Amino acid sequence: MQLPFAESYKIKMVETIKKSTREEREQWIKEAKYNLFNLKSEQVFVDLLTDSGTGAMSDKQWSELMLGDESYAGASSYYKMKTAIKDILGFDYFLPTHQGRAAENVLFSVLVKEGMVVPGNSHFDTTKGHIEFRKASAIDCTIDEAFDTTAHHDFKGNVDLNKLEKVLMSYPLEKIPMIIMTVTNNSAGGQPVSMQNLRDVYTMSRKYGVRVVFDSARFAENAYFIKQREAAYADKSIKEIVKEMFSYADAMTMSSKKDAIVNMGGFIGFKDEDLFKQASVFGIIFEGYITYGGMSGRDMNALAQGLYEGTEFDTLDSRIKQVAFLGQRLKDFGVPSQEPFGGHAIFVDVKRFLPHVPKEEFPAQTLAIELYLEAGVRAVEIGAILADRDPVTRENRYPELELLRLAIPRRTYTNNHMEYVAAALGNVYARRNDIKRGVKIIKEAPIMRHFTVELERL
Ligand code: F0G
Repeated sequence: MQLPFAESYKIKMVETIKKSTREEREQWIKEAKYNLFNLKSEQVFVDLLTDSGTGAMSDKQWSELMLGDESYAGASSYYKMKTAIKDILGFDYFLPTHQGRAAENVLFSVLVKEGMVVPGNSHFDTTKGHIEFRKASAIDCTIDEAFDTTAHHDFKGNVDLNKLEKVLMSYPLEKIPMIIMTVTNNSAGGQPVSMQNLRDVYTMSRKYGVRVVFDSARFAENAYFIKQREAAYADKSIKEIVKEMFSYADAMTMSSKKDAIVNMGGFIGFKDEDLFKQASVFGIIFEGYITYGGMSGRDMNALAQGLYEGTEFDTLDSRIKQVAFLGQRLKDFGVPSQEPFGGHAIFVDVKRFLPHVPKEEFPAQTLAIELYLEAGVRAVEIGAILADRDPVTRENRYPELELLRLAIPRRTYTNNHMEYVAAALGNVYARRNDIKRGVKIIKEAPIMRHFTVELERL
C-alpha cells in the first residue's frame, strides 16, 4: 500500500484556541464594523487572515534566539544573516529591515520618482502603495490566464513578455527604474513564476538596460513549484533552483515573515555595491544602523536559521500539500477556487460563489463575514475593497478577480483544522442563494482603506 502523506515535523508546544457561539460572533463582528481586521484574535477559532508572521518557529530557531548578539554595530547575528543570504540567495550585499514593506520603502526611496512606471506581475498592495505614494504607477503585465480561475496554467504568476516589452518600448527608459517580479505572485492567487519566465524577463531587461527586482516573500514556495512542474528541474534541489532564480535578479526585497518563517523581519539584497550604498542612507534614516535595520540580533539569528529550513524540500512539501488538501476538500463541496491551488493560500472565486451579489456590494467581503459567522474562521477579502480607489479619479476600482483568501500559516494548523474550514465554507456554499445582499462602506481612509474600513450590512 502506498503510504499516506504526513508532515515532516512534530509538535512541541501548543497554544489554546477558543470556539464561540454564533450569537457571540454576531455581536463581535457588528462591534468590529464588519471589518475582520477589527476582531480580537481570541474571537477567532481558525485564523487564516494571513500566512505572514503567523508560522511556528522550529526548536532550532528558538535556540537561535538565545544566541542573539544585540550589539548596535557589527553584531555576530548580522553576519549570520549575511552568510545565510549569500549561501542561499547569492547576494553579496544586504540591508536588514523590520519587514517587507520597509524594504520596499528603503529601496524605492532611491529608485522611484514622480511620473515613473514600474511594470511587473501583479504588484502586492504595499508594493503598489509605495509606488503610488511616490506618484509613480505600477503596471500589471501578468499573463491573461491568471485572471481566469478555471483556466489551467502551471505558472499563472508569469509575466506576459509582450505586455512587458510594450511598456519598455512606450516609456523613456529613465522613467522605468525597475521591473518587479513577485515570486510567488500573491495577488494572482499564490501562483508561481516559471524559471523560463524569470530567465526571459531577465534577458529582456538586459536588452533595455532596466534592472530586475524580485519581491521574494514566497520565493521558496515558487522554487517548489518549479521543481514539480518544470521538467528540467525535477531532479534539482530546492537550494539549486533558488540559486538559479536569483541569478536573474539585480536586487530583492524580502518579507521574512513568510518563507523565512519568522514572526517579524525583512531585508533587501543587492548585487550592486553602489545601489547598496545609496539605499544604506535611507536604511539608516528609516530603519536603523546598517547592521541591524529594525531587527533585534536574536531575530536576525532566527531569520538566518529560517532561510535554511524554509528551503528544505520536506518543509515545503508538507506545507504545499496541506494547502492543496484544503483546496481539494473545498472542491469536493463544490466551492470554486483559483486553480491550480496556490502555494500559501486557497483563493475562493467569489464571482462564481456569489454571482448574484453585485460588485458594488463587495461580495468577497460579504463572504468573509458569512464564513466568520458560520464557524469563527477568519479569511481576508482580496477584491474591490482592497483594490481601493483610483488615485486620480477616486472611483472604486473593481479588479478582474474578486477573491476570498484562506491563507495557511506555516506549521501551525493540522489537517483537522483544514477539514473544519472546508466544512464551514461548504455550509455557506450550500446556502449561498439565501445571501442576497452585501455590504456598504460607511467610513474609509484615503489609502490602504481595507485595514480600517467601516461597513454596514445591506
Ligand atoms: N510582498 C508580498 C508579495 C507580500 O505578500 C507582502 C505581505 C509584502 C510584500 C509586504 O511584506 O507584510 O512584511 O511588510 N503580505 C502579507 C499578506 C501581509 O498577508 O499577504 P510585510
